[in-house]
Amino acid sequence: MFQWKKTIYRSACLSFLLVITLTILQRGTNPGSLFQDQQFSQDAVKIQKKEASPPNNFWGDKKLEMTTEMIDVTEEQVKTWDVTTINCTANGNFTAMDWFKGLEPNFQQFLLYRHCRYFPMLINHPEKCSERIHLLIVVKSIITQHDRRETIRKTWGKEKEVDGKKIKTVFLLGTASKDEERANYQKLLDYENYIYGDILQWNFLDTFFNLTLKEVHFLKWLSIYCNDVDYIFKGDDDVYVSPDNILEFLEGNAGENLFVGDVLHNARPIRRKDNKYYIPNALYDKSLYPPYAGGGGFLMGGSLAKRLYKTSEMLELYPIDDVFLGMCLEILKVNPIKHEGFKTFGIVRNKNSKMNKEPCFFRGMLVVHKLLPAELSHMWDLVHSNLTCSRKLNLL
Ligand SMILES: *[C@@H]1O[C@H](CO)[C@@H](O)[C@H](O)[C@H]1NC(C)=O
Ligand SMILES: *[C@@H]1O[C@H](CO)[C@@H](O)[C@H](O)[C@H]1NC(C)=O
Ligand SMILES: *[C@@H]1O[C@H](CO)[C@@H](O)[C@H](O)[C@H]1NC(C)=O
Ligand SMILES: *[C@@H]1O[C@H](CO)[C@@H](O)[C@H](O)[C@H]1NC(C)=O
Repeated sequence: MFQWKKTIYRSACLSFLLVITLTILQRGTNPGSLFQDQQFSQDAVKIQKKEASPPNNFWGDKKLEMTTEMIDVTEEQVKTWDVTTINCTANGNFTAMDWFKGLEPNFQQFLLYRHCRYFPMLINHPEKCSERIHLLIVVKSIITQHDRRETIRKTWGKEKEVDGKKIKTVFLLGTASKDEERANYQKLLDYENYIYGDILQWNFLDTFFNLTLKEVHFLKWLSIYCNDVDYIFKGDDDVYVSPDNILEFLEGNAGENLFVGDVLHNARPIRRKDNKYYIPNALYDKSLYPPYAGGGGFLMGGSLAKRLYKTSEMLELYPIDDVFLGMCLEILKVNPIKHEGFKTFGIVRNKNSKMNKEPCFFRGMLVVHKLLPAELSHMWDLVHSNLTCSRKLNLL
């Protein structure tokens, strides 16, 4: 441990010197560019931090902070996240209207800010996607669920290379939705990110109705930073996933328009007010949703994701993120495919059923909802032990 700290500290000092040297050189050659690209500089310093600074420097290091303004190593202009200020005021266009006044407060809130499309990035990792990636694992998470992220990193989110094919993982976060969580959890998240380098965070509140915001932010991020991603698995942080089964599935099902998951056809908007997914007529008045895949976990082609980004910009945001993607797919005329290995609504609906705990069942699955960290670890170990199953499940 101490040995390790020492080594890290040494490399930190070295790289700090390097930064100073670079800066002096920079100043000499091109003083005007020093403060130009704040966003990129922040990105650069994050990479810097991750590689080099010692943990005990982390919490209050002003020297490294300083370099955020100092480094500018942009030789060729990279495209970066271009939203750096929050410039969004409530849309008062319909506040006087009766239908609006009759809505529940959360829907009013949603509508008032629906036009605010993109927010600045608080934590970015442009380097994550700088090489060819076969499978990018993208996990929706919130700031307080660090234990889920921890378990995912040790199980299905583990970054690795299989036969030369790279698997990488990122977590998508907004900011703490409760005031009392903000200060402390943000510090912890920064530290977590410093250790693992797999957090993408944007400056919007992580609420249920902002999940679609998270979706479009990710799609935009992908379009900027990921030139060469074959496939994307996107899911929740409380699911069981089998990357091996996903890879096996992809071998036989490659395709430009791949979009596969637990797809619902002819789903109806829920009109019961006590339901989590309730949608008032004022927001959506058709009787059916387009086909969409449950947001718990689905798989899509990298190039399709980029087209989804373009398409998403043509639509107004819809409060349910997976339905919103279904709307985009409909415009693109891409049919999401239902696959039995995606169980985002549980293996069987009866929560107490033994099937939901049966490792032999999990062995053949791609995604299963819903497991908390301890259950996930346990199931992962069971499935990856010498399991003897009485009957083989051939779902793939
Ligand atoms: C915010 O947006 C308004 C209208 O879109 C624009 O006039 C204003 O200059 C913007 N302010 C900033 C700080 O970007
Ligand atoms: C409010 O209505 C005006 C006029 O129809 C329109 O130009 C403007 O974009 C609307 N504002 C928002 C935030 O949608
Ligand atoms: C989404 O996030 C924005 C920015 O933090 C916030 O202003 C808005 O209230 C949030 N929307 C909902 C519906 O929670
Ligand atoms: C699984 O079985 C193989 C061969 O049957 C054995 O070599 C291995 O040690 C076993 N692994 C575990 C975790 O029991």
